[in-house]
Amino acid sequence: MTSNDDPRRTDRSRLTAPLTIGGVELPNRLYRAPLLECAGNGPDAVETFIDELEPAAEAGAGLIFQGASIITGEGGCAAPNMTRVHDPEFVDELSRLTDRIHEHDSRIFIQLAHGGLRSLDLWHAEHRRRNPGATQAAVSRPPWQLRLADRAGIVDLRPDVLSTAEVRELAEAFGRAAGYAVDAGYDGIHLSGANMGIIQQFLSPHYNDRDDEFADGVRFLLAVRDAVREHAGDVPLVTKVPAETAAPPFVREHLSRGEGVTIAKRLAEAGYDALVPVEVSTYWDMSVIRGAFPERAWEAEDLQDDYAAVFGGEWQARAVQALNRLEGRWYPSEPGWNAAFCRAVREAVDVPVLCEGGLRERAHCERLLGGEGASGDGVGSEQPPACDMVGMGRPFYAEPRLPARLLAGEERVLCESCNNCTVPQAAGEPGRCRTPEIVRERARREGAGEYERTENTEGSTTE
Ligand SMILES: Cc1cc2nc3c(=O)[nH]c(=O)nc-3n(C[C@H](O)[C@H](O)[C@H](O)COP(=O)(O)O)c2cc1C
Repeated sequence: MTSNDDPRRTDRSRLTAPLTIGGVELPNRLYRAPLLECAGNGPDAVETFIDELEPAAEAGAGLIFQGASIITGEGGCAAPNMTRVHDPEFVDELSRLTDRIHEHDSRIFIQLAHGGLRSLDLWHAEHRRRNPGATQAAVSRPPWQLRLADRAGIVDLRPDVLSTAEVRELAEAFGRAAGYAVDAGYDGIHLSGANMGIIQQFLSPHYNDRDDEFADGVRFLLAVRDAVREHAGDVPLVTKVPAETAAPPFVREHLSRGEGVTIAKRLAEAGYDALVPVEVSTYWDMSVIRGAFPERAWEAEDLQDDYAAVFGGEWQARAVQALNRLEGRWYPSEPGWNAAFCRAVREAVDVPVLCEGGLRERAHCERLLGGEGASGDGVGSEQPPACDMVGMGRPFYAEPRLPARLLAGEERVLCESCNNCTVPQAAGEPGRCRTPEIVRERARREGAGEYERTENTEGSTTE
């Protein structure tokens, strides 16, 4: 498909123009990327979600992806305080959240996830102490690199390799949770297909060494699609699609960008309604977020004891910090680091492609969308659009109401990708911006009324 005869390339293909995903109309092309809300399942869970997500809707976000929720009653949580959605009674209560989002003409998709090997039991010493018998669902026997890390005491590996029947049951669990979510008013389902969760583990040659039908990891996503369609009907179905181009040099077998494109093509042909291509590592590391080493978060005095408890002691916490410092150098933040992969996927599929990762400027978003002054993403050559919708993650921690500013024409968000919001979550702290200069600047702008929704952000298109 060439860019000129691409029906998706229209004058409306820009930030404030509507877009349809799987039959659901979105008022504009700015989404809140999935971010941990740390809401858990306790009595305050729904209120926490409302507090976290309603400001984005109120400020005009076209689509909100709720952060990853775990589809099983046990295991599979990658971080503390994640929410589980296996229980229909609990999920039903989330209709209070979806109602609130809809009151602002925004839409909300829930992200369904299972960590597989990337589980709290693997890395969280305190959690392991409280759950001594816990094992990790594994696609295959873990790769030697993880086994080595286990022997060195860096992780605590207790893999439980899934039988074929258990893989089918896992796909069913995704479908059941999707059904509960749609009953609770969610507008769509987003699968956590990357960030080293179990879906990526099925897709990745680093993890998948099976000899049954699921040796082809896409088949797991096809089984999930079938289960979602059975339990949740024709609801829009979106997934992240990984390319493991950020894998460390000692991982020989990993998904190339070309393989990522092939996976995306198969999923679009199989009825997935939109795709979010992301270039990640084979591990849960800073490739997912990139940017600065979070110095301030590691040095926070009130969190030192928590870090020691989480990582199993003071020196272990220091070792993780040193590794984190290295990763900060290894994965520098490049604005729109997924754009080239998104563009390659968009050339190969006929469904909307969503781009996130380091996007901070409106003009850049417009160029990626093929809008105003579109000529690729600023490298000078005439390139087709990279995507149909743009998303931001950490900037929403810094400015929960950022769509109001951005959709009204403001050029840049406040987030500096310093990552001080990320590390404290390992200690169960809520996701929020912890950089005083930025928090102060947001307060100043709030005082000046800059986050009030204006005409331009209230569903209009700027044609
Ligand atoms: C604290 C934190 C939690 C995240 N949680 C999720 C998640 O639950 N699911 C997911 O797919 N991505 C998750 N991400 C990745 C974001 O969706 C996004 O891809 C990433 O932050 C890059 O976008 P940004 O540069 O705009 O922050 C998380 C990122 C951060 C920083």
